[in-house]
Amino acid sequence: MDHFNIIQALCRSALSNPSEAVLHQVNRLKQALDKDGKDKEVKIIDNLLKQVDKLVDMSPSKIQKSLIRFEGEELTHKTPLPVDKETSTPLAEIIFTDQLPTEPPIFDANIKVALNSIINEWLNFEKLKSIDAQPSRSCLIYGEPGTGKTHLALWIAKQMNTPVVLVRLDGLMSSFLGTTSRNIGNLFSFAAKYRCVLLLDEFDAIAKLRNDTQEVGEIKRVVNTLLQNLDSRKNTGFTIGITNHESLLDPAIWRRFEAQIEIPKPSFEVMYSILNKFLNTLSFNENELKFLSWCIEGASGADAESLSKWLKKSSVLNQQATLVDNVRRFAMLNSGRVNLKKRNILASSNDEDLINSLLNETTINFKQREIATLLNKNPSALSKHVSKSKRL
Ligand SMILES: Nc1ncnc2c1ncn2[C@@H]1O[C@H](COP(=O)(O)OP(=O)(O)O)[C@@H](O)[C@H]1O
Ligand SMILES: [Mg+2]
Repeated sequence: MDHFNIIQALCRSALSNPSEAVLHQVNRLKQALDKDGKDKEVKIIDNLLKQVDKLVDMSPSKIQKSLIRFEGEELTHKTPLPVDKETSTPLAEIIFTDQLPTEPPIFDANIKVALNSIINEWLNFEKLKSIDAQPSRSCLIYGEPGTGKTHLALWIAKQMNTPVVLVRLDGLMSSFLGTTSRNIGNLFSFAAKYRCVLLLDEFDAIAKLRNDTQEVGEIKRVVNTLLQNLDSRKNTGFTIGITNHESLLDPAIWRRFEAQIEIPKPSFEVMYSILNKFLNTLSFNENELKFLSWCIEGASGADAESLSKWLKKSSVLNQQATLVDNVRRFAMLNSGRVNLKKRNILASSNDEDLINSLLNETTINFKQREIATLLNKNPSALSKHVSKSKRL
């Protein structure tokens, strides 16, 4: 057949990037040749089409777009994790969407507004794209330990319906310094290949390292590698950095994050809601929750969780003990969670100090009747106590 070698070359070239239309036309050609009894040519075209099938099997079927427009291969339980070559320990952990928290941590209204605006940008990806804009691709979350930062980052990923590649940078750094840069490079390549939210937890590890070691040159290299990798990830996926010590963070790293969210320690109202959530199985009343929030004023959400666990255990193991007794014991065993002033008040063996402190509390209003109930006292006995302390 005349010029068939040119037709064959045309087909091969078109099929290297096959669209529906190309496949349709090449199949039409095959049928036409078949009709004319050109068996040799039919076989050649058929082979070209079979190669396309193989290609399609290897890539596009595995590459999916998420609800929220991240691209890349799908992570599975079989995906090999990047490892430290020296120690063979994995450099990251994958948290799949079904393991991500469905409930956000409890924050005050300002933080909720900031978070919603980040998530909303991604939910409106198409609209933003149509005006040549794109959502923020990176976010730094900072604040004191136990304030719910890691939980928050995982919840953001849940909202984006995307698995998390979780990297604890302190783990990464503890390996031989010389291999740290290579580990960082491997990690970012891994994150670039797969559809994921890259979560860089304990980010301050790099900064701490800078103070701890003499190997200044190597540290600079590590920071530079990190900066370069963050830059090259600017248009890929979503990256969250978390740090407990934002002041230690290199300003150049700080600037790489498009959004920055500070998570403060819970206010009294937020603490009340956190305890209310964690203690929902014990049916404490408003007065009791108010007292508990007062006791751990200035503590973190994680501390509130510890107190809640303690109270749950006590409700089974120490059924005779009053709430105040239980909190007293918790305070003595958790000096890092209950501040010194509150601990001293609770430590005193008689109830005088506690009653006076609660009565004199100005921001939270405790009524005499409420204090009496908490301490299992007769309200009139408390009134006498009040008039006596006024006389003094
Ligand atoms: N504001 C909060 N609301 C609800 N739970 C909280 C809050 N802050 C902390 N927690 C709980 O405390 C625990 C530790 O939180 P985590 O996210 O690890 O804190 P961080 O990463 O800031 O150190 C988690 O179980 C989390 O659910
Ligand atoms: Mg954390």
